[in-house]
Amino acid sequence: MNSRRDFLKHMTGAAVLAGGVPLMWALPQAATVEVPGEDGLLVRSFRFVDLETPVEYFNTWLTPTPHFFVRNHMHEPSELDAKDWRLSVGGEIEKPLTLSLADLSKVETHSVVNTLECAGNGRSLHRPQVPGVQWGKGAVSTARFSGPRLHDILQRAGVKPTGKHVMFRGLDEVPGKVPPFIRSIPIEKALDSDTLLATHMNGSPLTKHHGFPARALVPGWIGAASCKWLTEIKVLENEFVGNFMSPGYRFPNQPGQPGEAVKPEDTHPLTALTVKSVISAPSDGASLKKGKVTVHGAAWAGEADIAKVEISTDNGATWNATRLAHDQARYAWRLWSYDWKAGNSGDYTILSRATDNRGRTQPSTAVWNPSGYLYNAIDQVNIHVS
Ligand code: MTE
Repeated sequence: MNSRRDFLKHMTGAAVLAGGVPLMWALPQAATVEVPGEDGLLVRSFRFVDLETPVEYFNTWLTPTPHFFVRNHMHEPSELDAKDWRLSVGGEIEKPLTLSLADLSKVETHSVVNTLECAGNGRSLHRPQVPGVQWGKGAVSTARFSGPRLHDILQRAGVKPTGKHVMFRGLDEVPGKVPPFIRSIPIEKALDSDTLLATHMNGSPLTKHHGFPARALVPGWIGAASCKWLTEIKVLENEFVGNFMSPGYRFPNQPGQPGEAVKPEDTHPLTALTVKSVISAPSDGASLKKGKVTVHGAAWAGEADIAKVEISTDNGATWNATRLAHDQARYAWRLWSYDWKAGNSGDYTILSRATDNRGRTQPSTAVWNPSGYLYNAIDQVNIHVS
């Protein structure tokens, strides 16, 4: 990575609201990033590298790895040698294992195309605003992840009947008293045939930003479930107790009043993602000529399938079905497009609304919660037609 000084040269005001833009629709401004291996991403934090994918990049089904967002809670491991790396598997199992990368490469490989979204994606759009990384709309990307199934490794280790949760520990460098990045998932999801110990992304070994040499890939679930730089897997009797399970990554059991505190006992851990669409073109604030305007975007629904995406250009009075692109996979977003005939000049708001095969539809207002998770309100861009 560039030196901190070089990097900061390119930071022109991360996490600062745009002056003069009405608060309701202002996204935090961020500089594009110059990090080797990353290309054109927006810096949301530099102390721990948090890089957002501009929505204009949501134009390919698979996100090229240099365009894939990055979310780190702490420093990336500074020393990672593939030869020395080991993964320990312990806890409620018959046979503890210590696996090298060579050991993993001997296990049958499985591939999953997954849309990975940070639970905090869209946090800056919640009102009232909430603290935390002020993500715009682009803490989400899609890639083909490959590696052994976690199921096969756990089967080799022999899970005892008492094993009900599977914990992952990352090799992050923990600054000061910050608790280490450890989270757990229930055994049913761990044993799902699509849950991976991913060693590859888009056909190449994982890059360091994305968890080299191996990460968990828990498809359809919030990104935090997919622990990077794995060093330890432990089968537990109970859900792991720690900062990133509680108070982190929990959601109110019942929607409360925006701005209202929620008691920890009235929350549950976040698991699968919800239904959502984002408009990738035209860009917010674009000036266009009258005539055909093709509206593009992406839509995803975690473990569910996208059933339809609709567009409105008259503030929600009427909705029109978009075309869903051909590429699809169980946990991956669908790209969509809609040809709009912009007949009259003026200011327009384009709205997009996704519905999944479980009947969930994007709401006009996302459920407010103190940590700003799972923002999924109907998306909108404002444009001018002349
Ligand atoms: N794993 C470790 N070890 N440390 C982390 O900070 N961040 C999590 C998850 N896995 C994180 C981690 C979060 S919050 C997200 S959204 C995803 O990684 C982001 O994955 P990416 O950086 O490959 O996009």
